[in-house]
Amino acid sequence: MSHKFSRIIQGCMGWGIWGSDLSESEMVRRIHHCLEQGITTFDHADIYGDYTTEAAFGKAFISSGVKREDIQVITKCGIQYVGNTRDNEIKHYQYDAEYIIWSAEKSISDLKVDYLDLLLLHRPSPLIQPDEVAKAVDKLTSEGKIKSFGLSNFTPSQTELIASRSKVSANQIEFSITAFEAMWDGSLDHMMLNNVTPMCWSPLGTVFKENNEQTKRIHEVLDELVRKYDASKDQLLLAWILKHPSGIHPVIGTATPERITKASEAVTIDLSEIDWFRLLVASQGHKVA
Ligand SMILES: NC(=O)c1ccc[n+]([C@@H]2O[C@H](COP(=O)([O-])OP(=O)(O)OC[C@H]3O[C@@H](n4cnc5c(N)ncnc54)[C@H](OP(=O)(O)O)[C@@H]3O)[C@@H](O)[C@H]2O)c1
Repeated sequence: MSHKFSRIIQGCMGWGIWGSDLSESEMVRRIHHCLEQGITTFDHADIYGDYTTEAAFGKAFISSGVKREDIQVITKCGIQYVGNTRDNEIKHYQYDAEYIIWSAEKSISDLKVDYLDLLLLHRPSPLIQPDEVAKAVDKLTSEGKIKSFGLSNFTPSQTELIASRSKVSANQIEFSITAFEAMWDGSLDHMMLNNVTPMCWSPLGTVFKENNEQTKRIHEVLDELVRKYDASKDQLLLAWILKHPSGIHPVIGTATPERITKASEAVTIDLSEIDWFRLLVASQGHKVA
């Protein structure tokens, strides 16, 4: 693809009111901190913070003095969320051309950028029409408002449907040591074969969120690997993802500067094949066939 994204992408879902609720000056510091670590790509969605986090980031971006061309901005559209800012009767998806264009233009205005580096359709909808999507993608592309287009949480056949009319550059899916179906169900193979850049959300899975038999087994192996690689557990979990040959870009969720630094350094860890399989086996709870 023509556009370069940093290998580690900073997710901004938790920077606003859905998470750490960073002040403008704190957000400015996080933006600079990411850039100092080589993390230049920022992941958004219109819905984050009940449709408020893009605007919070936009203010901070302007205050930061960072040049537009020094960062890449990803955002998503299509979820009609029930919150305080929109009059939605029920959570649903909307993908007619007019709505996609309106949503992308609103994101551009809120984020205070002239263009999006990548616009993603957030979730597949059974009612999606590839011609409507293409109408929007063609218009936004020809007007220079989006540099590339992609999907999120789409299966290979759903991707094929949209790709029959529009060039699909990326697919952002859930993937981690505890959510690894995408490497068995053909999703990642399909992306490799079709030159679709894989990005993954919740790259740390449930490892720090849940205390169950599976996460206990994973922690036991991680305890050994921490010593062997002189690396932290979050770094090893990212290294596990980075080893997959499809070249996945983890979208990290932390708003903690030290953890952002650690994540950026994970790209230097060369996990051995044996240790990669040890983590997989710990997660599965059984050896491979
Ligand atoms: N496309 C989609 O459908 C979709 C869905 C969900 C998310 N996303 C994107 O993916 C991004 C990441 O998702 P995520 O937040 O679930 O990712 P994650 O990186 O797996 O999880 C980050 C969370 O784990 C916490 N954490 C606890 N211990 C940690 C440790 N040792 N190291 C690092 N973090 C630790 C962090 O807390 P602290 O903040 O306190 O450090 C943070 O709340 C989001 O920001 C969003 O941009 C996309």
